[in-house]
Amino acid sequence: MSDPLEFHDRALSLGLARVAEQAAIASARLIGRGDEKAADQAAVNAMRTQLNMLDIAGVVVIGEGERDEAPMLYIGEKVGSGKGPAVDIALDPLEGTTLTAKDMPNALTVIAMGPRGSMLHAPDVYMEKLAVGPRLPKNIVSLAMEPAERVRALAGAKGCNAEDITVCVLERPRHDAMVAELRTTGCSIRLIPDGDVAGVIHCAETHTTGIDMYMGLGGAPEGVLAAAALKCMGGQMWGRLMFRNDEERSRASKAGITNFERIYNRDEMVTSDVIFAATGVTDGSVVSGIKREVGYLTTETILMRSKTGSVRRLTYRTPVN
Ligand code: FBP
Repeated sequence: MSDPLEFHDRALSLGLARVAEQAAIASARLIGRGDEKAADQAAVNAMRTQLNMLDIAGVVVIGEGERDEAPMLYIGEKVGSGKGPAVDIALDPLEGTTLTAKDMPNALTVIAMGPRGSMLHAPDVYMEKLAVGPRLPKNIVSLAMEPAERVRALAGAKGCNAEDITVCVLERPRHDAMVAELRTTGCSIRLIPDGDVAGVIHCAETHTTGIDMYMGLGGAPEGVLAAAALKCMGGQMWGRLMFRNDEERSRASKAGITNFERIYNRDEMVTSDVIFAATGVTDGSVVSGIKREVGYLTTETILMRSKTGSVRRLTYRTPVN
């Protein structure tokens, strides 16, 4: 008989999908209602309730914030029945709160689980991110390269021209210079308003998303979640924490980070095998959003295990009042 205290990723994966599904269902009634906070809170409540139904001794390592600023799913919160394996949980109950409030594409509920100590305890600061998909030479691009150089290196490896490469970037004033430099290569740029977990995941499914590379600054917690997804799907990713002030550096110290300049690759952000689930809230290229019909809701969830590289898409239809 298998040891119930071991991390059985296969057995736990369906439970994880349920957590993501229920968070999405809870936020469904708030899609397009202009209330980001309410949508987020609904997802948080549902995710916490569902997590506490699982037989795990879980600790939230990437969560809603520090204990003193987030009443639920705060970093360090214990979740689960406490009876099963010791696991770390990284979550973003609603990745794309504004996307949900405005009914724009690519809002997701996101959660990853791994054995204790498997994921970087990234503080809530920015991270400079760079990601490409699978089946490319190791370190074909790097954070040390200039953005234009990355495009040329990737085009060389893919045997195409720079014009054939599409780079995904969060549309922010802080990225204006980077975007201007990228334009000099002739590449295409997919500017997204929010949601860089999906932005990174898109690199692993270029054939359906059209995106070859992701780059730019976004949330560090989202960076670790994206690394967990790419560990399952294949693909390379790098991240460097960016600090704007001493308060942010002290957050990092509290999280156990000592080298503030360090560049983490995917497997340094996520050090052992994990499972990852994300459910679509609004329609996107990763998964479809919630569909409503009278009396029913239908969700689509992507569920992945890094140990096997398996990627499932689960459709779930449930009656609603
Ligand atoms: P929220 O869902 O918490 O609003 O995050 C959305 C998001 O776009 C993330 O995907 C991204 O990492 C981060 O915000 C970028 O932060 P900022 O809006 O400060 O540029």
